[in-house]
Amino acid sequence: GDGGRDSPEYLFKIVIIGDSAVGKSNLLSRYARGEFDPHSKATVGVEFQTQCLEIDGKEVKAQIWDTAGQERFRAVTSAYYRGAFGALIVYDISRRSTFDSVSRWLDELNSHSDTTVAKMLVGNKCDLEDIRDVSVEEGKKLAEAEGLFFIETSAFDSTNVHKAFEIVIREIY
Ligand code: GTP
Ligand code: MG
Repeated sequence: GDGGRDSPEYLFKIVIIGDSAVGKSNLLSRYARGEFDPHSKATVGVEFQTQCLEIDGKEVKAQIWDTAGQERFRAVTSAYYRGAFGALIVYDISRRSTFDSVSRWLDELNSHSDTTVAKMLVGNKCDLEDIRDVSVEEGKKLAEAEGLFFIETSAFDSTNVHKAFEIVIREIY
């Protein structure tokens, strides 16, 4: 609409989920601020960042929510997912247990959100090729079976971080 020059035409909520220490908070800080913290602490509760971008000449604002992977630090689940248009489901390519958890995270997402949510499976820490524990093929296969987009990222060296968020945002838009 014409609600003023400074207000974005579109505001989208995106949630990031996945096991503790897979790099959710660092993906967000890398995307929103260009920062990486090698000593980041586990998230307690919920944090979010907003990021503006332009798509096809329209200003789009993404409000990206980040929560704790650890059960004991998590806030009210339904509130976290409410109104989400997109989701990044993150695992760590160097830790298979985090990949095995993806189906559990998907169940939670699906039971708290609309079926139209744009979903991206994200294999993070692809800089750790030497200690890789989940192959690219396995990631692709799971994503295909579950109807998700798929990408591998590194919050450490920035590989595909912008791309991961922007594919989801474009899909929503
Ligand atoms: P919770 O808040 O507990 O759910 O964890 P999280 O998923 O937010 O993980 P966080 O971003 O705090 O990162 C956990 C650890 O992994 C930190 O030591 C990060 O520095 C490290 N890390 C995050 N992303 C990457 C990456 O792409 N590559 C490497 N090598 N390390 C990473
Ligand atoms: Mg965190």
